[in-house]
Amino acid sequence: MNCDSVEITKEAGVGADEHELTGGNTAGSVVRVGNTVRKPWTNNTPVVHSYLAALRSRHVDAPRLLGRDEDGRQIVEFVEGTIALSQRPLDIDALRRVGRMIRRIHDASESIPIPDPDGWKLPLPADNPNLMCHNDLAPWNLVTGDRWVFIDWDGAGPSTRLWDLAYAAQAFGVLNQGEPVESAASRLRAFVDGYGADTLLREALPAAIVK
Ligand SMILES: Nc1ncnc2c1ncn2[C@@H]1O[C@H](COP(=O)(O)OP(=O)(O)OP(=O)(O)O)[C@@H](O)[C@H]1O
Ligand SMILES: [Mg+2]
Repeated sequence: MNCDSVEITKEAGVGADEHELTGGNTAGSVVRVGNTVRKPWTNNTPVVHSYLAALRSRHVDAPRLLGRDEDGRQIVEFVEGTIALSQRPLDIDALRRVGRMIRRIHDASESIPIPDPDGWKLPLPADNPNLMCHNDLAPWNLVTGDRWVFIDWDGAGPSTRLWDLAYAAQAFGVLNQGEPVESAASRLRAFVDGYGADTLLREALPAAIVK
């Protein structure tokens, strides 16, 4: 496993070492310890970690992996900032930026081998998976601050650009119910322009979003 060198510190001035992190679906199993996050280690973790290490080596900013603790949990860098969910809806510039971030992740993933999709169970599998993807690119997994970083890579696995982008477009609230069509369209355009989607991808996206 690729472990970057980050000094693991205890959080100063706080009595207990472990602090439950909320905001996800796995309440109780994600905790902060100093400048690290501890999460359960699963069967998929080794593959997910090599994917993340490969992305980081391709200059994608993702949480540093710091090994495994005495309780067998993953140790991951705690990224300082604000979860984007609390700023939703993101403005046009932010949507463009998120689109760009996702493009960089997808482009960097092109040269990373994918595990056998048949042996990889995903809640919403894509048709004909051909790319390692995050699979939960959403405001609840984006830290914004000095760095903008997607966290929570545990659901990564074989998928497609289209599926991953469609999920992200929906999750970032690009199509808010009741929103005037013009403003929804310009927000979606900013997101897709940020990604730099080609005509084929643009044409396929609306159907994939509602799938
Ligand atoms: N590396 C990190 N840096 C900063 N904050 C983090 C990090 N990892 C988790 N968090 C915080 O903890 C919350 C829950 O963590 P995470 O998203 O990893 O788990 P989860 O969403 O509960 O898991 P799952 O998506 O599998 O249900 C996040 O919403 C975020 O606020
Ligand atoms: Mg999460």
